[in-house]
Amino acid sequence: MGSPHGTFDFVVAANRLPVDRVVDDDGVARWQTSPGGLVSAMDSVMAGRTAAWVGWAGDPGEDIEPFDREGTRLHPIALTADEIRDYYEGFSNTTLWPLYHDVIVPPLYRRRWWAAYRAINQRFAEAVAEVAADGATVWVHDYQLQLVPTMLRDLRPDVRIGWFNHIPFPPVELFAQLPWRQSVLRGLLGADFLGFQRTTDAGNFARACHQLLGATRSGDVVSWDGSDDELQGAAPRRVRVSAVPISIDFAGLDELARTPAVRERAREIRSSLGDPETLLLGVDRLDYTKGIRHRLRAYSELLADGDLVPPQVTLVQIATPSRERVSAYRELRSQVDGQVGRINGDHSGIGAAAVHYLHHAYPREEMAALFLAADVLLVTPLRDGMNLVAKEYVASRWDGGGALVLSEFTGAAQELTTAFQCNPHDIVGLKQTILRAMHEDPADRRKRMLAMRRRVRKHDVFGWARRYLSALEAAPDRPGGGGRPRDRGEGSGLG
Ligand code: G6P
Repeated sequence: MGSPHGTFDFVVAANRLPVDRVVDDDGVARWQTSPGGLVSAMDSVMAGRTAAWVGWAGDPGEDIEPFDREGTRLHPIALTADEIRDYYEGFSNTTLWPLYHDVIVPPLYRRRWWAAYRAINQRFAEAVAEVAADGATVWVHDYQLQLVPTMLRDLRPDVRIGWFNHIPFPPVELFAQLPWRQSVLRGLLGADFLGFQRTTDAGNFARACHQLLGATRSGDVVSWDGSDDELQGAAPRRVRVSAVPISIDFAGLDELARTPAVRERAREIRSSLGDPETLLLGVDRLDYTKGIRHRLRAYSELLADGDLVPPQVTLVQIATPSRERVSAYRELRSQVDGQVGRINGDHSGIGAAAVHYLHHAYPREEMAALFLAADVLLVTPLRDGMNLVAKEYVASRWDGGGALVLSEFTGAAQELTTAFQCNPHDIVGLKQTILRAMHEDPADRRKRMLAMRRRVRKHDVFGWARRYLSALEAAPDRPGGGGRPRDRGEGSGLG
């Protein structure tokens, strides 16, 4: 509940607000849903809850007054154009993002970006400190805000702090490249509970703490005595660290995909593609982690081999625009544009495109219709924290139809074990897996899909939030261990 003074017992901090401010050509501002898995997951958890959400509104700009949306108080953090360049495009997405995704592209280390990252994390910590009620629960999200836990603890020792990493945490052999590695670990150790997608990620973090700070691990508790050569005088910390894999609103998507409008739209999509025997689908942010180029390579070879022939088979590739001012993303876009152009030039006929390439974002209803229309969804990241698109596909297939080709380098692969799993680096293997997913006996394919549906139904986003918050509640930082008695607050409304 919000107090009369405008403070909240439950506060979320994420780089982005759930809505982005978009100014059109006439200078009129409107709000639209922000991109990415983090917002889609948290948005369903927060809908209708009394809480505050501190985040950036997605454009350079003026101070925007806090406002309410579906019961949540949104507190915009203003970032200037230079801060966006250095903190968001620079340190977050040119240093940390590639470093945490197995250095698929080389991370760049710039001292100016690091200074901006520290300053903006401090700004977030101060904003949270202002809106958090006495003893509030604060849930910090993702790699953009790794210093917030300690900065916030310094300002507000009374609040309980959780952090969740939506992306992988790299092995220490890679993490150790980061010139500011100890400061980042120390920033995170200000939390009471650190949640990761996979046990491996939690293990990587604990190993980094051991190797780089001399911390020890016992069960899921990392203990650090606060001493090391570079960071003098920090308070000792005991922090709970474990895996809590994120999920989706299964029931909501299942219900949406069953509506007559979505079913009709799915039929319409197929018929406008010429009613192919097999519709292959890819849905990704246009990001080099997603393995889009490997997927297109495999597809173009299957066409060249004569294993796939349009219009009986076609591929719809949706690539949502992302981080377009970051050079690795611009380069990827021109590579993918080129690849798609070549494939279509070589293999399309009139009215029989080999690839339908759509560089747009689509609303939920259209996504549900596409999922329902697709015979095979291709999810082939080189590294992905979870990949909620894979889970969304499964939730949309109330008919038990469809097949999921899923990279073993996604968090989702640990749960969706009956998917057609693949190593996207192995183009021959990927080609075989795509053909297998298309041609397997339909009864067997159905069994695979139903098993995945059971898994995602049981482990949905609401269960994820409950598990996360009870782990945070039980975190061992306070004297006496098992958390403090609470008279109000956390998770209020999240149970
Ligand atoms: C991933 C990250 C999120 C991020 C999203 C979209 O899901 O884990 O933190 O918000 O991508 O990326 P963007 O840079 O547009 O926020």
